[in-house]
Amino acid sequence: MNLPNYIDAKKRTKESTVKELYKFNINSKNLGVGKTYFVKTYGCQMNEHDSENIRAMLEELQFTPCEVMEEADLVILNTCSIRENAHNKAFGMLGRLKHLKESKKDLVIGLCGCMAQEESVVKDIMEKHPYVDIVFGTHNIHELQDLLINRTKKQNIDVYSCEGKIYENISYKRESDIKAWVNIQYGCDKFCTYCIVPYTRGKQRSRKSAEIIKEVEELVKKGYKEVTLLGQNVNAYGKDLYSDYTLANLLSDVADTGIERLRFVTSHPWDFTDEMVDIIAKRDNIMPYIHLPLQSGSNKILKLMNRRYTKEEYLKLYKKLKDNIPNVSITTDIIVGFPGETREDFEETLDVVKKCKYDSAFTFIFSPREGTPATKMIDNVSLDEKNKRLYELNELVNKYANKANQRYLNKTTKVLIEGIGEKGNLFGYTDTMKLVNVKADKKYIGKIVDVKILESKTWSLDGEINE
Ligand code: 5AD
Ligand code: SF4
Repeated sequence: MNLPNYIDAKKRTKESTVKELYKFNINSKNLGVGKTYFVKTYGCQMNEHDSENIRAMLEELQFTPCEVMEEADLVILNTCSIRENAHNKAFGMLGRLKHLKESKKDLVIGLCGCMAQEESVVKDIMEKHPYVDIVFGTHNIHELQDLLINRTKKQNIDVYSCEGKIYENISYKRESDIKAWVNIQYGCDKFCTYCIVPYTRGKQRSRKSAEIIKEVEELVKKGYKEVTLLGQNVNAYGKDLYSDYTLANLLSDVADTGIERLRFVTSHPWDFTDEMVDIIAKRDNIMPYIHLPLQSGSNKILKLMNRRYTKEEYLKLYKKLKDNIPNVSITTDIIVGFPGETREDFEETLDVVKKCKYDSAFTFIFSPREGTPATKMIDNVSLDEKNKRLYELNELVNKYANKANQRYLNKTTKVLIEGIGEKGNLFGYTDTMKLVNVKADKKYIGKIVDVKILESKTWSLDGEINE
């Protein structure tokens, strides 16, 4: 077995293992001429954004994009490990690719993303999936070109066990020319006991503010209307830079670039400062939308999750946000069936939902992830009971989501029109992140327009443009 660079994804070291960025010669730049690629992305915005980087690198090698996976010469799966079903989806897709390769011998298959950072997955790929040609991790996406250029017939696995430097001047082939993601931070140091992210994405590393501001200024120049600052725990931005420049400072400086809409995800309640609340309230181009994961309403479970706040502290912060940021919309993430969660604990969660009346919530059943502390905790809640709790929670969450949307009925609100949706209507989002469908001419795409809301549903609003 040959495992270059793969030591132990679960151990942190300070040493950087990142090699110099690959510089290709003229010949290798033609590698993709006449060939097509297909990138399939699973998981969060971070992965979506990494795929924008992967696409840019492939197009530098002159591969052309292909809409249909079965027709592509190169297929890359950018995977997610957050819950077991994400794993299963990727392995299911590998099964399809295996069959495809039987009739298409030259097909090149690559696997990257969070699953590639898991030791057990890499072992599995080596032992049971020899048809996968290349594997690379979240810390060495920049080596994709190198891996393709120097590809041999043998499976090539190149995954770093620890994070390295932050690379700047990364090229992206962005999905949209209206809104863009901008990384401000990589990794996470919070170590919530259920979460695999600190292992697959490494320790928290913040980008320097000057680089972030420069990137946003360039996007503004190109005509982008909206930027979302991305990180696993953006509120802790800068803590690893040993300066007193915080997310509040960054938000203010990025807002100064003149970008019309500025968003940020994801916020951990622990690091939410008053300065942040003030700046969001004060600046018109910082959108009044906050994703504030609760995870559980029970103090006992929050402690077991290592979330570092209590139900009471969360509610206090929630009130502060609602009281100080006009028209703010707040969404959340909730896990049910965490090990040791009793009916009473679950009712504490329901109680927070009733008090907060979230605009919407992403709800999950706890999924044990290998190597995380929660996996070793005693889980005595049956799957049937977990499903019942999820159902009950969803009923409540949907009721409040519906009510939150009803407040928009017959009102006029600003919507950034992003494109054409499924039924041929235009779609876009309000400043508060509500999805709006409008029947209108496509000349409005890329514009922020006034829309009168005519119908409200649980997950979306329908309206007409008010000129
Ligand atoms: N099981 C279930 N849900 C999880 N999440 C993270 N890890 C797990 C897990 N092991 C959820 C959390 C997080 C969101 C992105 O995914 O709610 O906020
Ligand atoms: Fe995972 Fe917690 Fe970090 Fe979020 S804050 S990425 S849930 S460890």
